[in-house]
Amino acid sequence: MKVKNREPAKQENNIYRPIKGTIERIKKQTSDVSLFTLELEEPVHYKAGQFFMVSVWGAGEVPISVTSLARKSTRIEFCIRRVGMVTGRIHQLKEGDNLWIRGPYGRAFPLELAKGRDVVIVAGGIGIAPLRPLIETFMKRKKYKVSLLYGSRSPDDIVYLDETRKWKQQGVNVVLTVDRPTDGWKGNVGLVTTLWHLAEVDFKKSVAFICGPEVMIRAAMQDLFFFGMPEERIITTLEAHMKCGVGKCGHCYAGKLYICKDGPVFSYKEIKEQSILNLGF
Ligand SMILES: Cc1cc2nc3c(=O)[nH]c(=O)nc-3n(C[C@H](O)[C@H](O)[C@H](O)COP(=O)(O)OP(=O)(O)OC[C@H]3O[C@@H](n4cnc5c(N)ncnc54)[C@H](O)[C@@H]3O)c2cc1C
Ligand code: FES
Repeated sequence: MKVKNREPAKQENNIYRPIKGTIERIKKQTSDVSLFTLELEEPVHYKAGQFFMVSVWGAGEVPISVTSLARKSTRIEFCIRRVGMVTGRIHQLKEGDNLWIRGPYGRAFPLELAKGRDVVIVAGGIGIAPLRPLIETFMKRKKYKVSLLYGSRSPDDIVYLDETRKWKQQGVNVVLTVDRPTDGWKGNVGLVTTLWHLAEVDFKKSVAFICGPEVMIRAAMQDLFFFGMPEERIITTLEAHMKCGVGKCGHCYAGKLYICKDGPVFSYKEIKEQSILNLGF
């Protein structure tokens, strides 16, 4: 029997094809978080809220959010916390070394919801990473009143500290808080969810974007809903263990949805209706 020659899959259409990036700059943020700026071999078009699968040869691949301003570019930034095997290897790399990325994947933040409204941004720890391009976008557009409530473990764990000062100078109402103060810290102490009174907005008329540990996300969403913010305007981005990033392997299945493909950005309404998080009611 004659076997038909099969057309080889076009490489550029391969959803798993990684693009090589060279690390141009590593900027240490805290003892376990660094900002990596990559120059890629070809441009990628990404938006705030989307993520890439980032890999290191011999170690593996991890999902990481875009932390640079949305655009089509060969330049991209990732803010990465060292937690385990792959992120540990990434933190051993130096400027000039290579990382491979594939994506962008997932839904972006629905920026259109903020049109004509005030914006509350709630971040916990490394959760500030995907929210940074959002803050930058609102600042660039100049039409928005933005309040950022950002909680960290300690003053030494504040990621983008320089930038929070810049954001403040440019009109963002920046409210920082820490769990454990150190000598000299004069700011707020306690959970971000104890600082709602410092957000200079009318919650009923605003939109919220939240990212951080799951326990913080749950508490923040429930508070905002309680204050009268419509559930479709309470937006968060969720984490899950991921392998493929494109809805094929089932690793990130939650409720009835895939976090990688249907998220990672969801509204509180979707989270409740699709039982994505255990909200305790
Ligand atoms: C959509 C998305 C975007 C993300 N964006 C960022 C980002 O911008 N910056 C950043 O630093 N991290 C981000 N993460 C988390 C990052 O992917 C994990 O920290 C990373 O996968 C850990 O891999 P590792 O091999 O270093 O750790 P491992 O050795 O695999 O694990 C170390 C510990 O972390 C836990 N862990 C691993 N992966 C996850 C996960 N996805 N969710 C919860 N716990 C996990 C493990 O259970 C274990 O306790 C994101 C995750 C997702 C799903
Ligand atoms: S990571 Fe494979 S289905 Fe989401």
